[in-house]
Amino acid sequence: MIKLTQIKKSYGRHQVLKGIDLSVEQGEVVAILGPSGSGKTTLLRCMNYLERPSEGEITIDGFTVNCKRPSKSDIHALRKKSAMVFQQYNLFRHKTALENVMEGLVIVQKVPKEQARKQSIELLEKVGLGNKLDSYPSQLSGGQQQRVGIARALALNPKVILFDEPTSSLDPELVGEVLAVIRKIAKEGITMIIVTHEMGFAQEVAGHVIFIDDGTIVESGTPDELFNSPKEERTKQFLKRFTPDGTYSI
Ligand SMILES: Nc1ncnc2c1ncn2[C@@H]1O[C@H](COP(=O)(O)OP(=O)(O)OP(=O)(O)O)[C@@H](O)[C@H]1O
Ligand SMILES: [Mg+2]
Repeated sequence: MIKLTQIKKSYGRHQVLKGIDLSVEQGEVVAILGPSGSGKTTLLRCMNYLERPSEGEITIDGFTVNCKRPSKSDIHALRKKSAMVFQQYNLFRHKTALENVMEGLVIVQKVPKEQARKQSIELLEKVGLGNKLDSYPSQLSGGQQQRVGIARALALNPKVILFDEPTSSLDPELVGEVLAVIRKIAKEGITMIIVTHEMGFAQEVAGHVIFIDDGTIVESGTPDELFNSPKEERTKQFLKRFTPDGTYSI
């Protein structure tokens, strides 16, 4: 379903991604962990070509882009395969929740307005915001804004949703409602890649966990393998930070 081959990305002389290989099956949920600056956001951005990789090949849903020689139509087709949910929500401030979700349907997918409206209402109901259709982002809590962000991503009907630390801007009491929505979508079988520091959530919802450090995949495996018996020293050091007693179990 998704295959990344030797994805590299440099900013000037700084190589941020050093050759990432990754395969993801249809319906799989993959969690990406790693320290700040390790390249997690860059990797997600490369996957939907918000950032152009310097080298490598990206295949999503049978469609391949060679990053050295991409054509405009290749990039356009690849972008349509994924939708991103951002840490900072990235909603249009001057549009209501409903208008934010409708935007992609009307502008990108050319769905007639009435139909887009109906679909968007259903999606907002799905994320528990059926009563906030006409609220502007400034009138919504962080958790509610992020749920609008998720509804907006779903509206694009993507093959994969890329979540970039979807709960890390939220007050702790709002994290649960967003995780609950992501959990619900995961059960519906959408392929998801989630960068997160919510270790308990990653362990529960992901089928596969990847630990990235310094632009390289250091270790990957099932949640049980990675969290309960990490092999690499760097993985152990990283996970230690997340447990107060210094053990790896969570
Ligand atoms: N547009 C850019 N120009 C130059 N350097 C950049 C750019 N974007 C990212 N970088 C650098 O690339 C490295 C990886 O950044 P990235 O945002 O991918 O890290 P991250 O793993 O997502 O970190 P965090 O957990 O803090 O979000 C960092 O050293 C960063 O400074
Ligand atoms: Mg990041």
